[in-house]
Amino acid sequence: MTTKRKLEWFDDDSFWRDLYLFMFSDQRFAEAEAQVDKALALVRPPGKSLLDLGCGPGRWAIPLARRGFQVTGVDRTKYLLAKGRANARKAGVDIEWLRKDMRDFVRPGAFDLAISMFTSFGYFDDDEEDLVVLRNVLDSLKPGGRFLIDVAGKEWVARIFQPTTSTVLEDGTRLIERHEIIDGWTRVRNEWILIRKGKVKTFNFHHTIYSGRELKDRMLAAGFHDVRLYGSLDGDEYGASAQRLVAVGQKPKSARRR
Ligand SMILES: C[S@@+](CC[C@H](N)C(=O)[O-])C[C@H]1O[C@@H](n2cnc3c(N)ncnc32)[C@H](O)[C@@H]1O
Repeated sequence: MTTKRKLEWFDDDSFWRDLYLFMFSDQRFAEAEAQVDKALALVRPPGKSLLDLGCGPGRWAIPLARRGFQVTGVDRTKYLLAKGRANARKAGVDIEWLRKDMRDFVRPGAFDLAISMFTSFGYFDDDEEDLVVLRNVLDSLKPGGRFLIDVAGKEWVARIFQPTTSTVLEDGTRLIERHEIIDGWTRVRNEWILIRKGKVKTFNFHHTIYSGRELKDRMLAAGFHDVRLYGSLDGDEYGASAQRLVAVGQKPKSARRR
């Protein structure tokens, strides 16, 4: 059943469409292709059925399908799913694309591996909804299945924090990013200003920033076990020079009460 909810920033399709070139450039696709084998070595999935949660245009889904995984890509954004379908067609791979909110998607006991890549976790105003997502994933995994979450960690944000940055995109568009830490280091509020051919468009969005410990505790609270943290998909330690917060948890092999 799909729940009716208030609209949040990620429900604005123009956000994903207008920022597509920035978020999903050819270089970003190439990065996923280059890192996919490292990610697999880190999680060592017990089988080949895979859920890509917040799959976007298939940066991870497609290279994984090419490696023989049966991939289900779940995303709420029609525009990005259409891009994913077109990219998969071009790559000659078969992927199941589903337009669903991650708070609603559950397919009990279906997957060996679930992934949430490139900071696709922690978007909801109500923190409890992150827990709902984790429980949905746990239910959707087979016993012994793995969940890999890749986000920008709070420790990294604290290290590199700059209130304002500016980038020029491939097509000459300028992107000015303004960041603010809010709610006692719980969330980051962003204002992104796109200046394209003299036209200005502003996007406001915010999300939770997890420290390593907070993400691990939340995964444990949802029922994952053996949760490990890494500072990159290469498996570096989650230490002072971590570039990403990568958490890998397992669904217990035997049923436990939560
Ligand atoms: C930063 S993008 C990352 C996409 C992809 N994981 C990647 O690595 O390229 C975040 C994705 O999460 C999706 N998303 C945002 N909120 C969602 C929700 N409530 N349910 C499902 N997908 C959502 C967006 O549409 C977008 O594709």
